[in-house]
Amino acid sequence: MKKTILITGGAGFIGSHVVRRFVNNYPENLIVNVDSLTYAGNLENLKDIENTPDYIFRKGDITDAEFINNLFDEFQPDGVIHLAAESHVDRSILDPLSFVNTNVLGTVNLLNAAKSCWSADSHEKLFYHISTDEVFGSLGATGYFLEDTTYDPQSPYSASKASSDHFVRAYGNTYGLPVIISNCSNNYGPNQFPEKLIPLIIQNLRTRKPLPVYGDGLNVRDWLHVEDHARAIDIVYHKGKTGETYNIGGFNEWKNIEIVKLICDLMDEKVGSENSQSLITFVKDRPGHDMRYAIDANKIKNNLGWQPHYTFESGISNTIDWYLQNHEWLDHVTSGAYREYYSEQYLDR
Ligand code: NAD
Ligand code: TYD
Repeated sequence: MKKTILITGGAGFIGSHVVRRFVNNYPENLIVNVDSLTYAGNLENLKDIENTPDYIFRKGDITDAEFINNLFDEFQPDGVIHLAAESHVDRSILDPLSFVNTNVLGTVNLLNAAKSCWSADSHEKLFYHISTDEVFGSLGATGYFLEDTTYDPQSPYSASKASSDHFVRAYGNTYGLPVIISNCSNNYGPNQFPEKLIPLIIQNLRTRKPLPVYGDGLNVRDWLHVEDHARAIDIVYHKGKTGETYNIGGFNEWKNIEIVKLICDLMDEKVGSENSQSLITFVKDRPGHDMRYAIDANKIKNNLGWQPHYTFESGISNTIDWYLQNHEWLDHVTSGAYREYYSEQYLDR
């Protein structure tokens, strides 16, 4: 029987890869993508599938309870994959309230709508919340985040995501809503807005601008290709156990400075530029900058058979190629408001 899956934030970076995967792999289902198209949402990300049958895009804001309730009345979704969020730590430091609104209030609006839509029968329904490993806080030199690691969010972004995770679990516990959460490490790949480290460095190299590295560049992140994350989301949605949490990570830790140097060298090879590393500029650190994130992804590996397919070397090389080939996309998203953001964020650093 045809199922309806509501995906929020499907015009963003990860969401667009998830929507494309579900539209292409599950043509028997109706996929409804709801997104308010903030600076980070871009329908150009989904041009190739926009006319596919049984795919619908709806522009709307998850903070608007009436809009969300009407959407659930209209489509009666069988499942929700919730990705819509304010997602950038530096922006959360500038404007925490917009993170509370979208990430906390928006999530609770969706939970309320799912609760009332599924009140008669929540059998085979699923509210799947996409979250981040940043809810666990910062690691020292050793250790990994496990599913039962205590929450210890340090930034306004991670505090808002932690809060949304707590609400999702609370609705599972209190109202019996069928929920799953996954917490993933840093993603990279095509369509990522160039406020995040990897596309920002590629964009600045294209335009031969300084490459801002926060602090001493020794902070560590665990990087995962976005297509590997989208495949994990597909597997968790279809095979995950209700009430469970899954950590998703790349088994792939890198110091920021090492990544920036790697991208410099790959760009020099690819476009014939010289000594791009000389553009590296150490700038004032991010306030409250988490030192290290690293995921233990053995639960999803052992229980659901997922593991990353991309090696970082091939993934980062393909990613640079994508940005070089899609320079219009980069030029488009970095015009206008991006310039204002960039000068506010980097001028005093
Ligand atoms: P993104 O910023 O690229 O995209 C977010 C999308 O949500 C955009 O399309 C935006 O228009 C939409 N959106 C924002 N506010 C909205 C609102 N009020 N109503 C409706 N739509 C709204 O983010 P992303 O990097 O693709 O992240 C997607 C999800 O995955 C987020 O929940 C994020 O916390 C989580 N996550 C991201 C990463 C990462 O490395 N990027 C890692 C782990 C988890
Ligand atoms: P980012 O891509 O913002 O992801 P997150 O903060 O969610 O992990 O940043 C990744 C790392 O790169 C983080 O340690 C901060 C650092 N960083 C820089 O050094 N320079 C930059 O210009 C940016 C955006 C990030």
